[in-house]
Amino acid sequence: MVDDSSISGFYKLSRDDRVKKLKEMTKLSDEVLGPLVDPGKVDMSILDHMIENVVGAMTLPLGIATNFLINKKDYLIPMAIEEPSVVAAASNAARMARVHGGFVATDTGPNMIAQIQVVEVPSPEEAKAKVMEAKEDLLAFANEQDPILVRFGGGARDLRVRVFDSKVGVMLVTELIVDTRDAMGANAVNTMAEALAPRIEKITGGRVILRILSNLAEFRLVRVRAVFDKEMLGGEEVVNDIIAAWAFAEADPYRCATHNKGIMNGIDAVVIATGNDFRAIEAGAHSFAAMNGYGSLTKYEKSPEGHLVGSIEIPMAVGLVGGATKVHPTARACVKILGVETALELGHVIASVGLAQNLAALRALASEGIQKGHMALHARNVAVTAGARGDLVDMIAEQLVKEKIVKVERAKELLEEMRK
Ligand code: MEV
Repeated sequence: MVDDSSISGFYKLSRDDRVKKLKEMTKLSDEVLGPLVDPGKVDMSILDHMIENVVGAMTLPLGIATNFLINKKDYLIPMAIEEPSVVAAASNAARMARVHGGFVATDTGPNMIAQIQVVEVPSPEEAKAKVMEAKEDLLAFANEQDPILVRFGGGARDLRVRVFDSKVGVMLVTELIVDTRDAMGANAVNTMAEALAPRIEKITGGRVILRILSNLAEFRLVRVRAVFDKEMLGGEEVVNDIIAAWAFAEADPYRCATHNKGIMNGIDAVVIATGNDFRAIEAGAHSFAAMNGYGSLTKYEKSPEGHLVGSIEIPMAVGLVGGATKVHPTARACVKILGVETALELGHVIASVGLAQNLAALRALASEGIQKGHMALHARNVAVTAGARGDLVDMIAEQLVKEKIVKVERAKELLEEMRK
């Protein structure tokens, strides 16, 4: 936990100085931060056991987003992403929310859904009623599969049955709702679903095929709201245009795909940094956004004072125990930097970043456009590609932007001239 995440000019520091500041603020040891600061220090034997046929590792830049105040707690937020502008944009948006108390987050609890698909059911409606009659027994049996989860306060909580038509006839789907606490929960719920399957077959008289979690985690939602300052955003007209930009996304799926992609820029970056399953989060986000016709994950309106009130509601199936989060040394360091105690708290942070990211994108799009900022950052990449290092990177990038020729060839020429 940090005292104050609003570090001014963090981006202006050298990388070494940023690391120094990070250590100072988080009070984390060199041992913890080592693999994050120097990916060469990651023990390859750990990665070798994570997946199959390992030959190496893929490193992404990892930046720290600043200014985040969430439920009155300050966070420095690690973000792993290849795209320029994302970390800066999130930090900037968080600054505009901070003056109005930051982000306020709540959740539905960490409840995952597991599905048991039954086909060839002789009388599906009767079978549905019978499964529901056996609910308490089925839940108790599901909980016997995971006494540790139950001991930690989680476990199977509820059951529902859906009957619908399909290309292969009527299907009965039993859905188990499980509180998975600090685990993402895939293993827990899949084990329960597999264990319940024979009982479901017996009750329904049908045949079970799939037994697997659903990534449409509609009972594992996080909701976040924040007030973004009107003046900091650029005035009333910008506020109105941001609302119009959001309305565009709500009205048009072509725009909405890009709008929600911008949200996921921030979300995935934190999900990846913390070793969580970003495909699960992506699947959950877009399927949730499509529940009533594809729409925006965020909403915007004006406060009586004319400030912009933003909110997001999104499934957030992330964990802190089990999986890569506990195993990967960089993910472990990221969790420590965040200082989150529970998976729900991590979900609050991630959804807040999603809202901040979306606001920043809409503000840029509704005012100066995103290319100006993007080009400035892209120019730095071009300068590095051309061989520039240290101070030369910014000097060359500035010149490229000034000349409006952001090309490696030109960067190489400039580099030669400057070296002379
Ligand atoms: C780019 O990665 C994301 C944006 O396109 C999002 C948006 O259009 O809202 C800027």
